[in-house]
Amino acid sequence: MKSYISPWPETAALPDFPRSISILGATGSIGDSALKVIRKHPDLFTVTALAGGRNAKRLAQLCCTFKPPHVGVLDEQVKKDFIAYLPCGYKPEIHVGPEGYAHLASMDGVDLVLSSIVGAAGFIPTLAAAKAGKMIGLANKESLVLGGHIIREACHESGATILPVDSEHNALFQGLMGHGSNDEELKRLILTASGGPFRGKDRQFLESVTRDQALAHPNWDMGAKISIDSATLMNKGLEVIEACHLYGVPMNMVDVVVHPQSIIHSLVEYVDGSQLAHLGNPDMQVPIAHCLCYPRRVEVDVPQLNLAEIGSLTFEEPDLTAFPCLRLAREAFEAGPSYPIVLNAVNEIAVAAFLEEKISYLDIPAMIETALDRHTSVDVSTPEAILELDRAARDESTASL
Ligand SMILES: NC(=O)c1ccc[n+]([C@@H]2O[C@H](COP(=O)([O-])OP(=O)(O)OC[C@H]3O[C@@H](n4cnc5c(N)ncnc54)[C@H](OP(=O)(O)O)[C@@H]3O)[C@@H](O)[C@H]2O)c1
Repeated sequence: MKSYISPWPETAALPDFPRSISILGATGSIGDSALKVIRKHPDLFTVTALAGGRNAKRLAQLCCTFKPPHVGVLDEQVKKDFIAYLPCGYKPEIHVGPEGYAHLASMDGVDLVLSSIVGAAGFIPTLAAAKAGKMIGLANKESLVLGGHIIREACHESGATILPVDSEHNALFQGLMGHGSNDEELKRLILTASGGPFRGKDRQFLESVTRDQALAHPNWDMGAKISIDSATLMNKGLEVIEACHLYGVPMNMVDVVVHPQSIIHSLVEYVDGSQLAHLGNPDMQVPIAHCLCYPRRVEVDVPQLNLAEIGSLTFEEPDLTAFPCLRLAREAFEAGPSYPIVLNAVNEIAVAAFLEEKISYLDIPAMIETALDRHTSVDVSTPEAILELDRAARDESTASL
């Protein structure tokens, strides 16, 4: 095993406190949890930039509280709306569109970037932060699915550090502590999956499930796209790919076990048979605080875990017949670096169409499988090539709707 992003970054190379933070995706669910952590520990952070997408009102509310000197928005119309919501006397510098987000991820004076835009739109800003040598709290798993190979290289060249916000990868990060240079002692990474709202259901049941049923995750409160990904198990598929990129392990060293209570966030198995698990209540403030404050541990407003109250923790194998997306993600990663880009692009189009009630739940894996079957490997060694393939796969799957 070769570890490309050290699971235990050189703490001496990390920025001092207070850390100047740029939050991309500030108006989303991860942004919200991160700002709760920051509100609780205002002495540890200076909020230098907040970026949202389309929700100008929410962004303006956040900016009125945190008064960042820099703000990011999706386009000129959102910029106009955002300005209209601002109180007089506060005039941040406003950055627009993908270039604006990339600037906020890489500009001087920012120590720490929280990459929490949803979807492939997070790739270029994450890459910009990696190239600029920033400390990165990475929630946007799609960046690694699209271009883990390029982000890896950028981190190596610039000395950037990625700290995994995803609760499973954060759990692995903690389970791997102290074992980075001793690769031969590592046996397996085991990601836990809640199983989502349809755990235990068969394909006949899944034929007629609605968007509202799919959005109702049993344990986690998350944005719409990741909630649907959790309901199809595509989220776990993207996470398996993310783990391979983050920890430099082959696909056959990453297993998945369904654990409906979402108390164990993942496990690391060593050659002596030990499995180190990370436990906690399912609240994203925990892994976010761990990343943003690393190597310090700080208090967060999350109820204390009481195992006696929970009583039992259960485990089962994932059902790959009812939920083929996990299998499709594994196969895409093994097929070569252009396949996960197609997988991700078609998944985003299919999930959006399902949310708009244009297609059924089972159409999501069907669209992805068809696109992967049609795809033949192409060179994706540059960001431009990645974006071009992403665009082409989106166009093709949109046309098929
Ligand atoms: N939520 C979780 O518990 C969780 C856990 C682990 C990992 N993650 C990962 O974290 C990321 C964010 O998830 P989330 O649940 O926070 O999603 P979310 O609640 O839907 O928030 C998404 C954020 O991205 C912004 N955004 C959307 N499209 C954009 C675009 N084209 N350009 C720039 N910004 C855009 C949104 O802005 P507007 O709302 O203003 O349009 C919002 O701030 C995803 O990659 C997800 O897989 C989430």
